[in-house]
Amino acid sequence: MMFPEYRPRRLRQNENFRSMIRETSLDPAQLVYPLFVMPGKEKREPVSSMPGVFRLSVDQLKKEAQSCLDVGVRSVILFGLPEKKDAMGSGAHAQHGIVQQAIKELKNSSPDLTVITDVCLCEYTDHGHCGCLSGHEVDNDTTLELLARTALSHARAGADMVAPSDMMDGRVSEIRSTLDENDFHMIPIMSYAVKYASAFYGPFRDAADCAPQFGDRRSYQMDPANSREALREATLDVDEGADILMVKPAVAYLDIIRQLRDEFDLPVAAYHVSGEYAMIKAAAEKGWIDGDRVMAETLLSIRRAGADIILTYFAKDMAKLLMG
Ligand code: PBG
Repeated sequence: MMFPEYRPRRLRQNENFRSMIRETSLDPAQLVYPLFVMPGKEKREPVSSMPGVFRLSVDQLKKEAQSCLDVGVRSVILFGLPEKKDAMGSGAHAQHGIVQQAIKELKNSSPDLTVITDVCLCEYTDHGHCGCLSGHEVDNDTTLELLARTALSHARAGADMVAPSDMMDGRVSEIRSTLDENDFHMIPIMSYAVKYASAFYGPFRDAADCAPQFGDRRSYQMDPANSREALREATLDVDEGADILMVKPAVAYLDIIRQLRDEFDLPVAAYHVSGEYAMIKAAAEKGWIDGDRVMAETLLSIRRAGADIILTYFAKDMAKLLMG
């Protein structure tokens, strides 16, 4: 069918037609809100490079979580700022560590909230790398046990799901078997399967105080130039027992989201990261773009590319916008 018989504009002429044929939608239930938890009381420290995002003490975190539920956002992912850091990142799996405390309190105050935890060492190591070191190298195999202990400590504290973001080889199977041996068969793993060594993480590293003290993360995070390798990484995580595959960052990697969607049956998540958020916020503050519309269009593009779940600092704002 060709013009003039076929006119695409026929179905664009009013909002009823447009909404009738709309292919992609956003639902607050599919959004995950990242939260940064710090020691202390009544602490609400703004992150300067991420307007609207705060480092929160546990009491404030509970309020924030409730405000998520109030707008229909049912899931959060926790990042911790420990009191002390050390070479092995031992704060990551401390029984009464900052994240472990936060999980317990959140599950008490908001039992309906899904609490996901980021499993990584970089916020807990004094050198800022995502694993322990051997010389100046991140030692893959000794890190695995620490990650598994971290995931287990989160599960014991009551986490609903764990999300390893370290990019060590073999960590999904190590975490799965440790959880299973300890009767946590039902805790899903959302694997940061395809995580690129990205400059878009800059503001997060301010927020979580986890910039590497030397070198960079390119010996474990992926090269932004590669897409076939993304499929290999995802295949490994599927075989190791991941329940959800994540791509990170999101907008510069929409093609990767689409490839994972087409190649695998597992749910796909995408992390719209700190730098992606900060750019929209900054341009909106300058009045150069309409922040709400760019936010909605961006998150929709991530869903259209194939993501089921979006982790985003916009979760609450987007949910409010959807409520009208
Ligand atoms: C920790 C981790 C990072 C992010 C999530 N988990 C930082 C990094 O790998 O350097 C980035 C999130 C964001 O930028 O919003 N490994």
